[in-house]
Amino acid sequence: MRLGDQRTLVATSFQAIKDLWIGHANDLIDRPFQHGFADKLEYDLSGAAMTEPIRRCRKAAMRALAKPMWPSYYPLLEPSSVNFVKNAFTAGANGGKAIEAYPFLRQVVFDLALSLTYGTRMTGENNEFVVTLIESINRISHLRSSTQRFRDYTPMLRFLIPDALSGNVIVTSERVRQQHLDVVYADLQRRLAEGEKVNCIVTGLVNDKLSLPESHGVCKALLQAAPDSTASSIYMGIAWLCSHDGRAYQTELYAAIMAAYHGDRDRAWDMAFREEIVPLVVSFYKETLRFWTTTPFATPRATVSDIKHRDTLIPKGVTMIMNAQQGNHDESWYGHTAGSFDPIRFMGNETSLPHLTYGAGSRICPSAALSNRIIYAMIVRLILAFEMTESEEPNARRPDLDAINFSDVRDSLVALPRAYDCCYNARDAHWLVQKW
Ligand code: HEM
Repeated sequence: MRLGDQRTLVATSFQAIKDLWIGHANDLIDRPFQHGFADKLEYDLSGAAMTEPIRRCRKAAMRALAKPMWPSYYPLLEPSSVNFVKNAFTAGANGGKAIEAYPFLRQVVFDLALSLTYGTRMTGENNEFVVTLIESINRISHLRSSTQRFRDYTPMLRFLIPDALSGNVIVTSERVRQQHLDVVYADLQRRLAEGEKVNCIVTGLVNDKLSLPESHGVCKALLQAAPDSTASSIYMGIAWLCSHDGRAYQTELYAAIMAAYHGDRDRAWDMAFREEIVPLVVSFYKETLRFWTTTPFATPRATVSDIKHRDTLIPKGVTMIMNAQQGNHDESWYGHTAGSFDPIRFMGNETSLPHLTYGAGSRICPSAALSNRIIYAMIVRLILAFEMTESEEPNARRPDLDAINFSDVRDSLVALPRAYDCCYNARDAHWLVQKW
């Protein structure tokens, strides 16, 4: 099909996506050029073609997010996750009041991403500095690779209504984003000058020999990508758990976690970020990521050479869109239960590509393994802490568990789950409050 002036191919079956994105990984390494992004954002890792500086940035991001680095991140994850549990307990009056937890969750992931990148913690979902920074990040994410603005695909519209007249939202958002990150970076430099040892990606990137703008580019890409994707997946996991079907499963998960730690609840809590030894939780998070595809079209790619696929020649320069949502629900791949949520679907299944939500191939999400671990740990801690139930109040919002309708947003790169109200009842309030 044609997307404005871009020749575009949309792959919909799991097998075709796998053949193209993995079988031709190197041929699909570029991103299509989106006006107002690649030309306006310096070192835009997620949106740029694979030039030499972007290759260096991706390599550095991969190293920063790789397993050997995780132990230095555990101390960052600890307080953020405790903060979430504490907020759910306190704001929800220990189950007495149903709450919408998404802002807390997004704050947790953002706080974590900021600590990872610039070694700075910012708690408080209402903190104005954080809110404006997240808003500027969201405005950029909202338009990236989306089909909302015809001018991104139609040269004539750009000619008739130039940026100066239309007010380029990417440029203005980038300005706000950069102003905020300058403050954060200045603070980091001050602490380093005072002799503090700060373990974060910016300080680590010195070893990758990146220039300062490249280092900032990597950090911005990580900050940009982290909050909504990860928070949405955890949020949808909780949505199912607190629903009628999921309630019994909470008991099974709790029993499985306790069995894995021989009944030692504190150890299960402490080890949540350090290992994934409860297969039931692993299967549950994989199925959550598959069923509610929070990145329904991954991020588009562009071919860098001609590709022979089956009996077709796909020329160089074609935009390649993976319909991850459809691939994730493809009956010819997952069988006749593809359309239903089955938390044990991945028990005993160690495939390296359980779903397409992280993309696939040469530019697969560099944070897939770390995000899995964050989701796993948050689920473990939530199950140890609470019994979660959807609100019985007549006016309460129920979770929308539909595979497509769960999202309030259809024309953006990242889905945004519809809000619901959930009661967080502590299993053992006395034990729980000792955690903070
Ligand atoms: C559940 C959570 C997440 C999901 C579902 C997700 C999904 C994705 C997808 C679909 C892509 C495009 C992959 C492709 O082209 O094949 C991507 C790229 C990327 N993600 Fe994630 N992501 C998540 C979390 C994160 C986090 C926490 C970070 C940072 C700490 C991150 C950093 C990135 C970066 C930097 C890229 C661009 C890579 C490139 O273009 O080479 N992601 N992600």
